[in-house]
Amino acid sequence: MTKKAETDTTTVPQVETVAALRDRVATWRNAGLRIGFVPTMGALHQGHLSLVDYARDHADRVVVSIFVNPKQFGPSEDFDRYPRQLAEDRAKLATVGTDLLYAPSVAEMYPEGFSTTVSVAGVTEGLCGASRPGHFDGVATVVTKLLLQAQADVAVFGEKDYQQYLTLKRLVQDLDIPTRILPGPTVRDADGLAMSSRNAYLSAPEREIALALPRTLTRMVEVLEAGQDDIDAVLRQGRAALQEAGITQVEYLELRDAETLRPVTRLTAPARVLAAVRVGQTRLIDNMAVTPPRR
Ligand code: PAJ
Repeated sequence: MTKKAETDTTTVPQVETVAALRDRVATWRNAGLRIGFVPTMGALHQGHLSLVDYARDHADRVVVSIFVNPKQFGPSEDFDRYPRQLAEDRAKLATVGTDLLYAPSVAEMYPEGFSTTVSVAGVTEGLCGASRPGHFDGVATVVTKLLLQAQADVAVFGEKDYQQYLTLKRLVQDLDIPTRILPGPTVRDADGLAMSSRNAYLSAPEREIALALPRTLTRMVEVLEAGQDDIDAVLRQGRAALQEAGITQVEYLELRDAETLRPVTRLTAPARVLAAVRVGQTRLIDNMAVTPPRR
């Protein structure tokens, strides 16, 4: 059913303005094609590219955006340092058959006088919302704009950023944005570390230490799914395992409901273990699904 990408390899067509994006998308829409959309901040890795493949399975044309969104970085965070490599990214996008790259400037996205903030309550509270004040407002604001600009049928977001994915699902539901949000599974390196543009900041010894994060989460999932019902004990053991492996800065390690992100005291519905840690200067997040054991 899915039609072949317009461009196979060579270069992916690129637009930088809302008007040019709307123009391209309108042509496809008028031809009856379904549009898929993958918003990113660039520094693309296999995780991002897997989302493009996923979008392609649900659409005839796939648009990828690259925009390092200043509004979602705190004042002491890595906005200036965030890797920017547009030419390299564009070449990678060609290998997965992207139909259009949308790479707006900050001035295009937030022209002089821009004054609106989109804020999602509930699901944004706690976890990353607690340690990164304003972050999810920045994400919700830019994604609202991107979705209204691209007018796609489906948009794919990674489960790697699970709280972000749930926030955006809530957002489109609440604001009647006619784009379906689909979750893409987390892609990991062979050693288990979830791919992230920020992994580039890790030194080799730091990366070794960072591996304790997926290892510990995997162990916790096993223990919980095997029926251990003392959740506090599992969380305590998880924290201890991270500490022992050299991850001394644990921002959070929690078990939450997979739909609402409310804390789980008894495992009776699908849940998620979620963690944010710091290894050296680098902040890493990860999460895994936990299926309640049959009792
Ligand atoms: P960014 O961190 O570039 O991620 C873009 C998309 O790729 C997000 O949906 C993210 O969850 C997904 N992703 C990242 N690492 C992944 C992995 N290892 N496996 C699968 N998917 C992965 O998330 C953002 O950008 C921004 O907040 C954005 C939504 C673009 C708004 O600015």
